[in-house]
Amino acid sequence: MDRYCVFGNPIGHSKSPQIHRLFAEQTGEQLSYEALLAPLDDFAGAARAFFAEGRGANVTVPFKEEAFRLVDELAPRAQRAGAVNTLIRLEDGRLRGDNTDGAGLVRDLTGNAGFALAGQRILLLGAGGAARGVIEPLLAEQPAALLVANRTLAKAEELARLFGAFGPVAASSFAELQGPFDLIINATSASLAGELPPLTAELIRPGHTRCYDMMYGKEPTAFNRWAAAHGAAQTVDGLGMLVEQAAEAFWLWRGVRPASAAVLAELRRQLA
Ligand code: ATR
Repeated sequence: MDRYCVFGNPIGHSKSPQIHRLFAEQTGEQLSYEALLAPLDDFAGAARAFFAEGRGANVTVPFKEEAFRLVDELAPRAQRAGAVNTLIRLEDGRLRGDNTDGAGLVRDLTGNAGFALAGQRILLLGAGGAARGVIEPLLAEQPAALLVANRTLAKAEELARLFGAFGPVAASSFAELQGPFDLIINATSASLAGELPPLTAELIRPGHTRCYDMMYGKEPTAFNRWAAAHGAAQTVDGLGMLVEQAAEAFWLWRGVRPASAAVLAELRRQLA
């Protein structure tokens, strides 16, 4: 049977094995998918051992940048994201790296959540790996503006420079931000610690602005609680992005697109 896995450290709570098993059941694809704990100091060794027979893998924290350096060839979107979350073993044994995170976010926003992105003023909070991976796919949707705001302004400026050729992207500090925005996306890791970037109420136009946190959890995230308290028209968490980036990886590996909405609904039920 064709073998797939997800590498991470830690990896115990990964939902990817369940997601891909549900995709395989639904599409009738014969495959196995397991979670593998790679040692922090030897991701390359773990990957080599797996790909002696494995067909493909997902890569999660903290190995996405290392996977980027490991592969023999890169999809253009992974090249620009500077990180790889999907590995594909090619016919000749070489490894190709791709990044499906940005496509997953855009599919979740436009498909599951029903947000239109064209012509919108979008605020992206954060300028780390998570933010970098989604800028190009967001710009491809032709927003009116994509403003990247970060605590460390230089990192936001660097991303604006890097992606300037793909659309109207600019950088800002939190202090200089002027709202309101149509859509605010939180890509900072602040939610992990239950923290919030320093955001002001005027970033949200009550009843209009929609907010999306790339994080998710059983309870609403700190960012989505802040957004709801200031009258956001809708708040969405990142569970759908997780399912959609997996669906995109499944498609790359198997050439079959799973019906992700049913799988998202199942995961949401289990989270409750
Ligand atoms: P990831 O891969 O999750 O993006 P990262 O590359 O370490 O992780 O980036 C974390 C992001 O969250 C950065 O934009 C970071 O801001 P800095 O670049 O200024 O460090 C942001 N971040 C983390 N904690 C934050 C907090 N408490 N308030 C505001 N921003 C925060």
